[in-house]
Amino acid sequence: MKLIIINGPNLNLLGKREPEVYGDRTFADYFSQLQFKFKEVQLEYFQSNIEGELIGKLQEVGFSYDGIVLNAAAYTHTSVGIGDAVKAIETPVVEVHISNTFKREDFRHVSHISPGAKGVILGFGLQSYDLAIHSFL
Ligand code: DQA
Repeated sequence: MKLIIINGPNLNLLGKREPEVYGDRTFADYFSQLQFKFKEVQLEYFQSNIEGELIGKLQEVGFSYDGIVLNAAAYTHTSVGIGDAVKAIETPVVEVHISNTFKREDFRHVSHISPGAKGVILGFGLQSYDLAIHSFL
């Protein structure tokens, strides 16, 4: 089973960024815990702050991997291009968010990813990623 977590803009700052919303743990630290926990999964990680790089990665892995866990971060709410890429590929995508976006500003209630996603998990903090990986097992 080969899965990849793809994180969008500003998620490289987890641990420092608005800790009251996103927690105080770095993603690198959390990712090593996930790799330890899901030993049977070949788990990869990619992060970019650039929309086109995220689309490029979705296209690259989207015809061979078993699953994609995608937190497109702010691009969730703005990017028709990433939404189209999710629809264009064959690998199922589970959309995740750390925060409950529906409890936040109205502009975060819109997702261009959800219409092409297999499912959506949000609001469980970093555990949202764990739950998304579980959904593929
Ligand atoms: C986020 C929610 C988005 O609205 C925000 O722009 C992010 C992170 C989350 O994981 O809660 O950067 O995707």
